[in-house]
Amino acid sequence: MEQQTEKKKVVFSAIQPSGTITLGNYLGAIKNWAAMQEEFSCIYALADLHTITVRQEAAAFRKNIIDAYASILACGIDTEKSLFFIQSHVNTHAQLAWVLDCYTQFGELSRMTQFKDKSAKHADNVNAGLFTYPTLMVADILLYQADMVPVGADQKQHVELTRNIAERFNGLYGNVFKVPEPYIPKNGARVMSLQDPTKKMSKSDENVNACVNLMDSPEVIMKKFKRAVTDSEAKVRYAEGKEGINNLMAIYSAVTGLSFEQIEHDFDGKGYGDFKTAVGEAVIEELRPIREKYEQYIADKAYMQDCYKKAGEIAQKISQRTLDKAMKKVGFVLK
Ligand code: TRP
Repeated sequence: MEQQTEKKKVVFSAIQPSGTITLGNYLGAIKNWAAMQEEFSCIYALADLHTITVRQEAAAFRKNIIDAYASILACGIDTEKSLFFIQSHVNTHAQLAWVLDCYTQFGELSRMTQFKDKSAKHADNVNAGLFTYPTLMVADILLYQADMVPVGADQKQHVELTRNIAERFNGLYGNVFKVPEPYIPKNGARVMSLQDPTKKMSKSDENVNACVNLMDSPEVIMKKFKRAVTDSEAKVRYAEGKEGINNLMAIYSAVTGLSFEQIEHDFDGKGYGDFKTAVGEAVIEELRPIREKYEQYIADKAYMQDCYKKAGEIAQKISQRTLDKAMKKVGFVLK
């Protein structure tokens, strides 16, 4: 990470390596991670420890971790500017999570909406890790004394919990943790399914046409946009009840930087066919260099290993300071 001259705000965020990275992950999160590198001191992680709260097949899991690392580098996360490490390489995360588990109430974790949703979805595997998943996330954030945590709306409750636990711990022991703010990026698009635009775009969607993956070929991307569900009005405008068009406009706007008014103006009098083609082309051009870089990284495992090893070592050092401070306050004897 760059030497800081003036004190930049610390940004921490993480993403799970639970499968292919989608256009939704990119426009909703990773594109913003890349943009934030200029202004902030950014620390990003692949939250692989979180991923095993849902059963993984070992070979596929290993491949997903490497693929996600290469994809995120390809999206422009610059290891000269930011720290980008793999959570399981840094042992302070699980350690602080244990300590914080003992400062978190059963009732608090029971109220987490994601826990309720996930335990309903994976009713045959409601493991203790799924339940304490939020405290691991709290540890991720607090270890780096982060000021800001860019997250999607679905993770906001976990950042609120982070603030509560940090305040509780600081209340008992003095100023140990920075109390972070959630940061919901203003231009971070919430990308919806292309087949059912009332649902979030998801890699686990049964309908393959619902979700664009970062590594989809141009032909596949175009086909998915051409098949996107719209409405019968045949007018490109942002309005309630036009969720399909709203979603395509949000995607187009996130990629081109054009405002909704400008898009409505540019497509005035044109049909949905033209608009879908334009969105498809814009996405293809946005993803083309990413796919090319991904191919380079994935073919150079030694380079990637060098990146994550170095980042992991730095993360270990930074986070150890916080862990030691917290453990000392609790009364542990440091070695
Ligand atoms: N739980 C987050 C998700 O699934 C990923 C995550 C893990 C995270 N640790 C974090 C996000 C810390 C922000 C900060 O999306």
